[in-house]
Amino acid sequence: MRTQVGIVGAGPAGLLLSHLLHLDGIDSVVLESRARADIESTIRAGVLEQGTVDLLCQTGVGERLKREGFEHHGIELRFAGRGHRIDFPALAGGKAITVYAQHEVIKDLVQARLAAGGTIVFDARNVTVHGVESDAPRIRYVEGDAPREIACDYIAGCDGYHGVCRPSMPEAVRTEFVRTYPFAWFGILTEAPPSSKELIYAHHDRGFALVSTRSPTLQRMYFQCDPHDRVEAWDEGRIWSELRARLETVDGWRPKEGPVTQKNIVAMRSFVCEPMQHGRMFLAGDAAHIVPPTGAKGLNLAVADVHLLARALTSRYRTGGDDALRRYSATALRRVWKAQRFSWWMTTMLHQFPDHNAYQRRLQLAELDYVTSSRAAAASLAENYVGLPFE
Ligand code: FAD
Ligand code: PHB
Repeated sequence: MRTQVGIVGAGPAGLLLSHLLHLDGIDSVVLESRARADIESTIRAGVLEQGTVDLLCQTGVGERLKREGFEHHGIELRFAGRGHRIDFPALAGGKAITVYAQHEVIKDLVQARLAAGGTIVFDARNVTVHGVESDAPRIRYVEGDAPREIACDYIAGCDGYHGVCRPSMPEAVRTEFVRTYPFAWFGILTEAPPSSKELIYAHHDRGFALVSTRSPTLQRMYFQCDPHDRVEAWDEGRIWSELRARLETVDGWRPKEGPVTQKNIVAMRSFVCEPMQHGRMFLAGDAAHIVPPTGAKGLNLAVADVHLLARALTSRYRTGGDDALRRYSATALRRVWKAQRFSWWMTTMLHQFPDHNAYQRRLQLAELDYVTSSRAAAASLAENYVGLPFE
């Protein structure tokens, strides 16, 4: 098989890249190690930046998102028992965010690619990349029992943090920057009405909590837990009592409770690989960088990366010049590091750190007080949360 761009991974990065390339007349094949049903049902992100929503809508895959997504014009920061609203349109030039689950974005993109005759190979096993330093890179994999090979002009490594593309770059050519946090997030889905019109990020002595949403009948909530915790250790009674405690306000606010239908624990890590290119292979999304979920940036960063990469590849095929491709890594990394900074800052401001002393805990409260009382500080949060410009 031959294609112009071989894409490893059918997450938001790989699928959207394939879609954008198709709109520019560039052929691609997407290889995914999991089954279609699996990628279309895994619960992950929920918050889409304005730029992500605009891109999906402008490229014809935003119809259901516009119909079923929920536009939010602010978030609440809750600490010391009181809520403080950050008003996005007022502080960030009229922009907003949309709550629409990542697996719904995946469904929309898979459907669009297949309807346009695109190739996505699900259940691809033993995927390996070869010859990325040459002019003729190849991807090998096993489909059923049959070994296959795809010859391509370029490879896009969109295979997430645990994928094969980044590790295939020689160690000597990459530098990895890592920060692990001494806590994780416990996430639940609950069958209950929304507790709040907007997301609530809560700082509490017992640890961070987040109230998010999915639909009028299904809600997503998280709370800080020990990274070694196990989901079985938390029954419904314990989960709700912890959420009630961390979300309490002076006027007696309580979350709306319902049956917990899903529980999972999410590790918290910051990670960047530089550069995001080796020879004819380009990394995008979680394959190149990870942020802790507190800033809701992971999926949005993946979208910004592939927007840039698609334009660089299009420029290469239209003009024959590879300037934009050569600039891809440096350009993408500028935005990546700003999202790293924002995600680290939100995480540090809102969580309890086991090694923090009383002085550091007071500083955290001063930071929250400042960001909710200074227009300049609130505007900085709002501008980052709704999303910095793509380029
Ligand atoms: P992935 O989604 O990881 O996709 C990679 C794909 O590659 C996968 O389908 C995988 O199966 C496949 N793959 C892996 N290895 C191979 C291989 N060897 N061969 C073939 N295929 C392979 N981000 C936000 O922006 N907003 C949020 O609100 C938010 N909340 C989050 C909440 C949680 C609980 C979690 C876990 C994450 C959250 N994120 C959020 C982050 C977001 O989900 C990720 O950043 C996003 O999925 C990255 O997309 P991606 O396409 O780069 O990688
Ligand atoms: C989610 O709804 O899953 C969500 C919302 C906000 C975040 C992270 C995750 O910061």
